[in-house]
Amino acid sequence: MSYYPYTDRFEVHRSIPEHSVPRDEVMATLRQIAAEEDGSWETGQVSGSYYCGDHEHYEHMTGVFGLFAHVNALQRDVCPSATKFSGEIIAMTLDMLGGAAIDDSTPGGIVTSGGTGSILHALIAYRDHARQTRGITTPNVIKPETAHAAFDKGGHLFGIDVRRVPVDPDTATVRPEVVADAIDENTVAIIGSACNYGYGTVDPIPELGQVALSHGVGLHVDGCLGGFILPWGRELGYDIPPFDFSVPGVTSISADTHKYGYGFKGSSVVLFRDQAVRNAQYFYLTDWSGGKYCSPGIDGSTSNGLLAATWASLLDYGKDGYRNVARGIFSTAFAMQDAVRSHPELRIIGSPTFCFSFTSDEFDIYHVNDFMKLRGWRFNGQQYPNAIHMAVTGPQTQPGVAERFASDLDEAVAYANERRGESAGSAAIYGGVAGGMTNEADDFIRMMMADIMDHQLAVPPLEG
Ligand SMILES: Cc1ncc(COP(=O)(O)O)c(C=O)c1O
Repeated sequence: MSYYPYTDRFEVHRSIPEHSVPRDEVMATLRQIAAEEDGSWETGQVSGSYYCGDHEHYEHMTGVFGLFAHVNALQRDVCPSATKFSGEIIAMTLDMLGGAAIDDSTPGGIVTSGGTGSILHALIAYRDHARQTRGITTPNVIKPETAHAAFDKGGHLFGIDVRRVPVDPDTATVRPEVVADAIDENTVAIIGSACNYGYGTVDPIPELGQVALSHGVGLHVDGCLGGFILPWGRELGYDIPPFDFSVPGVTSISADTHKYGYGFKGSSVVLFRDQAVRNAQYFYLTDWSGGKYCSPGIDGSTSNGLLAATWASLLDYGKDGYRNVARGIFSTAFAMQDAVRSHPELRIIGSPTFCFSFTSDEFDIYHVNDFMKLRGWRFNGQQYPNAIHMAVTGPQTQPGVAERFASDLDEAVAYANERRGESAGSAAIYGGVAGGMTNEADDFIRMMMADIMDHQLAVPPLEG
């Protein structure tokens, strides 16, 4: 597989063309590229990423996006629609996530650019609120090791000490007493996931809520992945532990509209039980020669088109639409898990639902990945232990996909059994699977990033 497949096929632009390129020419090129790239996930064999897969829904959102794409959501006097869209996105998400149970404060939220954006905003809010109300200048947060890397990124960006605590290897969830032990006088928040990215398991949020309340710290629930699907799973009767604002002690929740909310990429919601925590991170520069500046979050100008399209996505599905899609996703995920469990050599980690991960105590699980890759499957690789992960989405619910997974897996396990004791070719890389599984893998990641970024700049000339 090449990261640069277009170099030989399409003109590479290293400077702005002297004259306008005809629009039909541009569209012909882009249609070809888009169709080829869509072909990779339309089979239903790619984990996560393409949550919806419904081209009619995409077309509808594209129409909505087009009406507002050029509008700057920062300038609310000329686009009050941005306030309508974001306010209603926040209200609808809050309603879905137990907002009605909040009776001790006024809740609020921010629409952000994605899961990472929501997590970053929560972290700044806790940091700044604790500075203002508790005088904390060296803040820390406690995260189960399984909570998303975006928390560590936030710590890196904002000078917050992100303390990782281990999870129970049997359940792949954190033990509340382990979190409680890690709290000190500078802890501003603890974190739980519903569910975590790696294993799809839900931390014990009610118990973490009690820990948060008894220590006077915040509890952020990362529902970036699960926030827009677990509520429907609960309604459908699946065994999903409580994780939303109906749980005492939960002070903020992130939930990605651009995942199971089926919006376009670039949108997510972070909700706060108390607006005061959200407001703590507002930015003001009132003595600037450019005018009095204020912004509610990290971004400056953004496209109102994304807000409009996200809003339209929630309306397009409606609760019954979300429930119906969730029904297919949960039943497909459980059928796939049954296929995994039918092999004694494989072990599912913890008790997941729509997103699951499996490993093997008998052979290197990456042999299974190597084989499945040849059959067109693209999983995400994990480490400690080596495991492969599948987030089931709309495209997997197509007829025949779960069956294809089961039959390809039978062959993959036979392939891996023949290679016991040998190490496999692929390894754990977030969002893709490649490389080798030792310390060289760390160097490989750095090399890969440098290589892609250098080509992105298109200087020096691209190679094939
Ligand atoms: C649980 C969880 N949190 C946060 C994120 C980060 O989201 P994003 O990639 O949209 O920034 C992800 C992404 O998959 C996730 O699964």
